[in-house]
Amino acid sequence: MISLHQTRIKTNNCFTILAIESSCDDTACTIIQSDGKILGEEIYSQKEHIRFGGVVPEIAARAHMAHLPPLINNLFEKSKISWNQIDAIAATCGPGLIGGIIVGSSFAKGLALAKNKPFIGINHIEAHALTVRLPHITNKIIPFPYLLLLTSGGHCQCIHVKNIGFYKKLGGTIDDAAGEAFDKVAKMLGLPWPGGPALEKLAKEGNENAFQLPHPLYGRNGCDFSFSGLKTAVANLLGPYQHLSSLPHSFAADIAASFQKAITDTITNRLENAIQMVPDTKYLAAAGGVAANQYLKNHLNKLANQYNMNFISPPIQYCTDNAVMIGWAAIEILQKTLQNDFIPDDIHLMPRPRWPLSDMYDRLKN
Ligand code: KG4
Ligand code: ZN
Repeated sequence: MISLHQTRIKTNNCFTILAIESSCDDTACTIIQSDGKILGEEIYSQKEHIRFGGVVPEIAARAHMAHLPPLINNLFEKSKISWNQIDAIAATCGPGLIGGIIVGSSFAKGLALAKNKPFIGINHIEAHALTVRLPHITNKIIPFPYLLLLTSGGHCQCIHVKNIGFYKKLGGTIDDAAGEAFDKVAKMLGLPWPGGPALEKLAKEGNENAFQLPHPLYGRNGCDFSFSGLKTAVANLLGPYQHLSSLPHSFAADIAASFQKAITDTITNRLENAIQMVPDTKYLAAAGGVAANQYLKNHLNKLANQYNMNFISPPIQYCTDNAVMIGWAAIEILQKTLQNDFIPDDIHLMPRPRWPLSDMYDRLKN
């Protein structure tokens, strides 16, 4: 049976999505309009993990369960939007930590069934990839194709984004993700979790040429990444210091700056190969938590200029995990499927810890 909302999506250019993100340690929800206007957003970055120095999956799932209902209530109260105005509900269905994905997607499906609205299951990586097209980032929607560096706590990949549903992974990490390396090195330096922002801050006080750290895979063909050796090299430098309290501040700052330089040089080198794999691509985009790093961004910008490309990166709050990217991905998918006169309804889509981007094309077919 076609609902009122489905009719509204089909007949009206402007529709409104409620979106939920819960794949890691951020519980987030938003209400976003199909023109990209954000009508409200709520996010809770889980503090429950701080004392463990990293995300604990079981705790994350329970925290999503506790925080999601009040966040949704706040979202509706603050935005003054009523359920009648919501046309579809979207949530992350993977990839990520399965407990949190089950919580968020089941919650969204329950709402969709209760309120008789279509449910759209979103791939978290696809959402990061499409966020750079959010209209208010550049005042226009950047065109396909573009080359995306996606670098977060769980991922480090170069993706050729050819169109909605058409993604080609050009290379990825063979061991740690870049964010994971930032977090582990930060922990060794005694910095609070999550380590990336704290390490970037400390690096500002240090000398980036103080230590020559390894540049794994630098100069090799392809655009795969490897970061675990870097982490080991930092551990070796710290070897003589038995206790973090005995670590001189300037020494820690020099390590932070040298590490940030080494990881940035390596990423830039690998990305240069990726650029050469897609010669007609005019946009270089960066997304994911590590793309919030200003030092890295400056170098990516320089690299883009060198190749006559435009560099795009979302504002920090949309680089790290958020619900706006989930809502925007749902909008992009809906606008695409509407061209074939159908609205996806993913109510039977199972939550999944892995979900390759190569599977995304099929969902555009009825
Ligand atoms: O995308 P994200 O919020 O979550 C996922 O992993 O999906 O990324 C979080 C990661 C963490 O590893 C965090 O330390 C890193 O992004 N990060 C940063 C910065 N801000 C966040 N890494 C380096 N510099 C930053 N400013
Ligand atoms: Zn993410």
